[in-house]
Amino acid sequence: MNVSRRALLGGMWTAGAMLASSSVWAEEVITRTASVQGVGVPKGVVQILYNENPLGPSPKALKAATTALGAGNRYPLLDTIGLVRQLHKLYGIPFNGPDNANDLKALFEALGSSPILLGVGSTELLRAVALAYGLEGGEFVEATPGYTEIGNDAQEMFGSKIKRVKIPLTEDYRHDTEAMARAVTPKTRLVIVTNPNNPTGTALTAQQITRLADSLDPRILLVIDEAYIDFATDSGVRSMTDLALTRPNVLVTRTFSKIHGLAGMRMGYALASLPVIRKLRPFTMGLIGSNGPAVAAAQASLTDQDFLMRSKEVALQARAQLMAKLPAYGLTPIASQSNFVWVAVKKDCTELVSRLARQGVLIAGGQRWDLPNYVRISVGQPAEMEAFFAAMDTKA
Ligand SMILES: Cc1ncc(COP(=O)(O)O)c(C=O)c1O
Repeated sequence: MNVSRRALLGGMWTAGAMLASSSVWAEEVITRTASVQGVGVPKGVVQILYNENPLGPSPKALKAATTALGAGNRYPLLDTIGLVRQLHKLYGIPFNGPDNANDLKALFEALGSSPILLGVGSTELLRAVALAYGLEGGEFVEATPGYTEIGNDAQEMFGSKIKRVKIPLTEDYRHDTEAMARAVTPKTRLVIVTNPNNPTGTALTAQQITRLADSLDPRILLVIDEAYIDFATDSGVRSMTDLALTRPNVLVTRTFSKIHGLAGMRMGYALASLPVIRKLRPFTMGLIGSNGPAVAAAQASLTDQDFLMRSKEVALQARAQLMAKLPAYGLTPIASQSNFVWVAVKKDCTELVSRLARQGVLIAGGQRWDLPNYVRISVGQPAEMEAFFAAMDTKA
């Protein structure tokens, strides 16, 4: 066991190593895990826990961010505008601002009429939704289990002014869009969809989402959180940014944290009609909220198609491996459209999660979603997946 792993979790690791060393199997596994060096984690830690990109950031992003650090004494205003401009191009939206920075007033006017809003990760934008739509109180329709940050934030800030209507997933772990539509009342402010969903990894088709959008009164905002959409492979599942750009009441959030491998840099964006964007903007940090290296990294990453393809390939390979191999352990992985897999353990997962943790392999227990009979396993690089399966094989 190496020193950095010891340092990481102190006594827990030491106890784990002692326990594990009671079997030859475990010794082999510990050695296997200990030799793994993941990106951004201490050697010996296999972090398949937070649905991150195990490859790290794109080399181009890394270079751009490093260069931007040298301009860390300057506010990153123009670079931030550059990123907005780049996103406009990506989505085929004309940017009506001047090409240079001589006319700042005209640039700001162009930004003020952009349907794209940057955030410190998509978290800032989801929080802005919670604030802007929770202030007046009302009902939020959300899926359970799901990524419920908007509801959590709103409840924390506005208490009983907010009623969260939690709609269970269907039997095949998808959002029950029909039940969500039926749950709408005159008090409903938001209907929230995470596509693909977290923690289940399942996804709705564009047709299902469009039908849900069609059913909603325009005064209700449909939020579509697409943090993981780049990993979707099923036909019919795709990003709904076109809907966000053509309907008055659809908001799509995207992030640089997942396929772009920039979770630590904190960049995300939202697309919606102007009135929705204008409603959210006062609740965000605005143009000086973005940090320069993060903006530079995001800009470079958007141009690195090779890296994005490789990131998807690594995720799909690990996902296929989890689907193929987990049943032999008596576990049931749910078909995923994401960079993680939701797995039915059929009994409380505490023992499994702790056993893996003792060997340096970190996965998410379902307790976080009040579903202790499940775990969520994120994708890793091939060596990390190998160490994960070796850890699964040990009895320690
Ligand atoms: C569904 C979903 N949305 C949003 C986020 C937050 O991402 P960001 O890093 O962009 O704030 C996460 C993070 O894991 C997520 O799972």
